[in-house]
Amino acid sequence: MNDILPEETPVWRHLEACIQGVLHRYGFREIRLPIVEHTELFARSIGAVTDIVEKEMYTFTDRNGDSLSLRPEGTASCVRAGEEHGLLYNQEQRLWYRGPMFRHERPQKGRYRQFHQVGVEVFGLEGPDIDAELLLLCARLWRELGLSDQVQLQLNSLGDLEARHRYRDALVAYLQRHLDALDEDARRRLDTNPLRILDTKNPQTQAVLEQAPVLWDHLEAPAKRHFEALCTRLSDCGVAFEVNPRLVRGLDYYGKTVFEWVTDSLGAQGTVCAGGRYDGLVEQLGGRATPAVGFAMGLERLVLMLCQLGPDAAVASDAPDLYLLAAAPEQEGPIQQLAETLRTQLPHLAFQVHMGGGSMKSKMKKADRSGAEAALLMGADELASASVTLKPLRTGEEQVRIPQSELTARLAERARRAPEHPSTG
Ligand code: HAM
Repeated sequence: MNDILPEETPVWRHLEACIQGVLHRYGFREIRLPIVEHTELFARSIGAVTDIVEKEMYTFTDRNGDSLSLRPEGTASCVRAGEEHGLLYNQEQRLWYRGPMFRHERPQKGRYRQFHQVGVEVFGLEGPDIDAELLLLCARLWRELGLSDQVQLQLNSLGDLEARHRYRDALVAYLQRHLDALDEDARRRLDTNPLRILDTKNPQTQAVLEQAPVLWDHLEAPAKRHFEALCTRLSDCGVAFEVNPRLVRGLDYYGKTVFEWVTDSLGAQGTVCAGGRYDGLVEQLGGRATPAVGFAMGLERLVLMLCQLGPDAAVASDAPDLYLLAAAPEQEGPIQQLAETLRTQLPHLAFQVHMGGGSMKSKMKKADRSGAEAALLMGADELASASVTLKPLRTGEEQVRIPQSELTARLAERARRAPEHPSTG
């Protein structure tokens, strides 16, 4: 669980603003969900024999004796909320949410116990066009973030439940014949969640899987048509993808389309965004059958990628625009008052007032370290003549005395001329 420090928060806000902008442009509305839910909700949706539910949830008993868990993901909560508030029946919903998720995993680069997702869930639409729409949305986001070159889309179809059961039997029968070559993890999963063996990182198990039955061969015609239509739509819209027949996902609620956006640039934790269809989940949780599809992206991983792009990643800093300082205690009150006036008149600029006294040299040092583009100084002369001295800190320009009556207009003009506004607002 990490602190996100002031040096890092501008990148987070840049990322979040980009995501929100794109979601808005695709017609999504925000929903805010609680961080704690009944444990049973996750067991019933994600699956009782998944890693998340078996090993990774932060679960506790509250004062009423109820078993609660910190949410490991947002889809289950979103379905619960949709049902509870009557948002799902006979309706179309395009929702998104954001916030911390909790999984007790082994931490490493890109994998944390508290991490943040932006998730998107669509209810009431069953066609491949909405699957495509979600992937187009992601592709646009990567373009706007400057990450397009670094992420690849992998797609698969899991078919419906019966097809998966038939495939599961065929896969288990095949793997039983190769038991000796399987690692311990794969053997354990053979009885619990055999499809997850397809995800293995063990080369020996991977070699066994080379000849294993393929899920696609067990799919019914409608699921195949859905998937092919999705692939065609993506190609028509210029979104590159790779079909990965081994892609199964670690949560049980998926059927038909599943996808992951992966990158090589983060080491082992290379999935930055993942999701798929879960047409059965609403009914499974007690609602009426409602088609649904969604995804979630891991913000820490995207922040890491943005930071790797370097300082040119178009990330604005949190530096103030102007640093205001008084030469002596007599001007401290007037400069603070001046700052208040400027904040009212120039609400898009950020003004930081020096506090805590010190020598002129140390005040100027702090002005410089603040990252501000210029300092506004007030000494006895300025106070007496109702003016202020503007001292550019970055450009080498000469300092100038400006009457306070002209200050607002002059600062607005400077801000207009600046190539890129440093404040994120
Ligand atoms: P997920 O694949 O478990 O899916 O997580 C989605 C994304 O969250 C991952 O691709 C990754 O970027 C990020 N993530 C997951 N675990 C961690 C972690 N421990 N540390 C950092 N980042 C992590 C879901 O959560 C589904 N609810 C997605 C979904 C929504 N499917 C349909 N609708």
